[in-house]
Amino acid sequence: MNTKEKLAELTQLNPICFGHSSITALTGPDFGLRVDDSIQSSIGSVLNCDNANDMISIQKEHLKNSPHNIPLLFMADIIHGFKTIFPIPIALGCTFSPENAKKSSQVAAKESAVSGIHVTFSPMADLVRDPRWGRVMESTGEDPYLNSLMSAYSVLGYQGDNVADKYNIVSCVKHFAGYGVPEGGREYNTVELSNATLHDMFLPAYRSALEAGAKMIMTSFNTINRVPASSNSYLLQDLLRKEWGFDGVVISDFNSIDEVINHGVAQNGYEAAEKCLNASVDIEMMSTHYIDTIEQVINDGLLEENALDNAVMRVLELKNQLGLFENPYKDANIEEENTIHLCKEHRELARNIAHESAVLLKNDNVLPISNGKKIGLVGPFACSPHVLGGWSAGSTKGVSLYEGLLEEFAPEDILLSATDELGSMFDNIYDIPNISSNLIDDLHQCDTVIVALGENQQDTGEGASKTNLRLSPNQELLVKTLKESGKKIVTVIFSGRPLEIKPIVDYSDSILQAWFLGTESGNAITDLLLGKANPSAKLSMSFPVTVGQIPVYYNCTNTGRPKANTPKERYVSKYLDCPNEPLYPFGFGLSYSTFEISNLEISTVEKITASVCVKNTSTIKGNETVQLYIRDLTSSVSRPLKELKGFSKVTLDANESTTVSFDITKDMLSFYTETSKVFEKGYFDIMIGNSSDNLLQKNIYVDENIL
Ligand code: GLC
Repeated sequence: MNTKEKLAELTQLNPICFGHSSITALTGPDFGLRVDDSIQSSIGSVLNCDNANDMISIQKEHLKNSPHNIPLLFMADIIHGFKTIFPIPIALGCTFSPENAKKSSQVAAKESAVSGIHVTFSPMADLVRDPRWGRVMESTGEDPYLNSLMSAYSVLGYQGDNVADKYNIVSCVKHFAGYGVPEGGREYNTVELSNATLHDMFLPAYRSALEAGAKMIMTSFNTINRVPASSNSYLLQDLLRKEWGFDGVVISDFNSIDEVINHGVAQNGYEAAEKCLNASVDIEMMSTHYIDTIEQVINDGLLEENALDNAVMRVLELKNQLGLFENPYKDANIEEENTIHLCKEHRELARNIAHESAVLLKNDNVLPISNGKKIGLVGPFACSPHVLGGWSAGSTKGVSLYEGLLEEFAPEDILLSATDELGSMFDNIYDIPNISSNLIDDLHQCDTVIVALGENQQDTGEGASKTNLRLSPNQELLVKTLKESGKKIVTVIFSGRPLEIKPIVDYSDSILQAWFLGTESGNAITDLLLGKANPSAKLSMSFPVTVGQIPVYYNCTNTGRPKANTPKERYVSKYLDCPNEPLYPFGFGLSYSTFEISNLEISTVEKITASVCVKNTSTIKGNETVQLYIRDLTSSVSRPLKELKGFSKVTLDANESTTVSFDITKDMLSFYTETSKVFEKGYFDIMIGNSSDNLLQKNIYVDENIL
């Protein structure tokens, strides 16, 4: 391969750049990128082609002209399913089930593999703390331990034992690193993280995905220590390549190499390309500075020795691992697309995972409802099929709540009103129509009303930051009006982020946070509302009392002046107009069952074990997620008040009890510094409960002798 061909191999474009009609989703700014035919046949990979027919024709065309018969890699954003869409990742995190991450990723891999996709840009392992940021929907939340497990199991689901095997695809973990906390929650804004926090809270989930075998990683748009991630040799060379030993493929994010110029760290494409390739970004996504300038960089003696060949070899090795040199089409199969996409088995899995994803936040004895009586159904999400959430690949619609209810109620028993969908802020629509004066009359035959509210799914995900997280005024008014009319209110919230829902809490007898649950949304919610499925989800991200409280997250540090118990105390860390605590905390979620956790015992004989008794004190079989948190009371750096270090999801019959035990390991008591993971002897609080704010606690002293 000559230099130009090598540089083309390191370039990823979407088919639009080849002049194909828009057969692919544009997932970034459209600069009208085009490359001339001479280089097109050497391009290394394609972004977001989403069907077997197009993939086969693009690959055939490419191989016909490729000077070295090197097949294209096809990559796409398969974030929470391909055609069968699963709950958005923030909801999947609420299942506290890594197995769910693995199973849903396996299905996503199978469905996308038969459509010709070789690589998915997933899992997104970014830790998030600010629901003003639209992409919290793509994360599994605010906790490093949960994110690490969910990311690792997603990788296992996508890649299986061997990526060359049928229906397996490569996992590209993203966005490395720290993209999840842009200042002000404003998309692509500056990220300011101390090294201590970066290493201890934000990096573990990416590392966990790589340790699970992810063969690719994507750099993020933001800077780390003021250096753009794509040109950050500390992040990519010192940490990723040398300390972590990652020898897989690094890909930039969409145009992020070019954006090194906007960050003010390169004067032009030449400098940006030189910095990024030397930092070991192998593939340039959706910009062409490598093709345009690296030959000159080499001639000027500025490219490190072997940097180009090493990058090309990593890409060719990935293609080889996928078996593309033997079979450039891998699993692309138009017939199998028809039999595998949205098949019954996949939809059943999506429905069951959705059951475990929706969080019951409040229930004043209204749920579950019976299907013997008339019910009211109102609100913009009552009949909406737009419940898949952002990044839903090629799919557009799911089962609406109304369709789900019709499986259980006769049409005449579901009284509809005020069901106009909520448009998108991108279309300058910020509310539903004014409440009709017929509202109460429409519903006079029923005493329970399901109010389906939320945010338009287009107003979540990338490029969808908000400063106001409240439900729109008419949505809030809808709940209030109905409650004041004497109805029992079941509020179901469809959102890609924790919203500021405090204004409707007192007007709702029950609240189900339904996120965007994907293809089987309406069926799963109906199962939950009727008690055919018992809610068990626990929040993966805190709900703020008000947007002014953000960032509010459970694993915060104590500060030098923690809020005292004396409310009159002035000089402590608090607000004058709002509590410090969130409205609903990480790890919280109700069930139709009730559980009692008691008798926390700590044993230090031979090893440290913490155990509790868990009892289902109700008459309904259910699942409880027992959570283990640890606090390191004194350390060389300020440590969080509590950190999730384990959880166990138990199923208990009515009145059944069990014992749940956790082995407390040295690793659980340690924390990451810039250079290593360290254990420091001392006192630790061991806490176990069913929410980060409902814990039994004991204190123990631990040193090397005990471990
Ligand atoms: C987008 C996103 C990234 C995605 C990529 C390709 O801008 O930041 O998550 O994988 O471009 O679509």
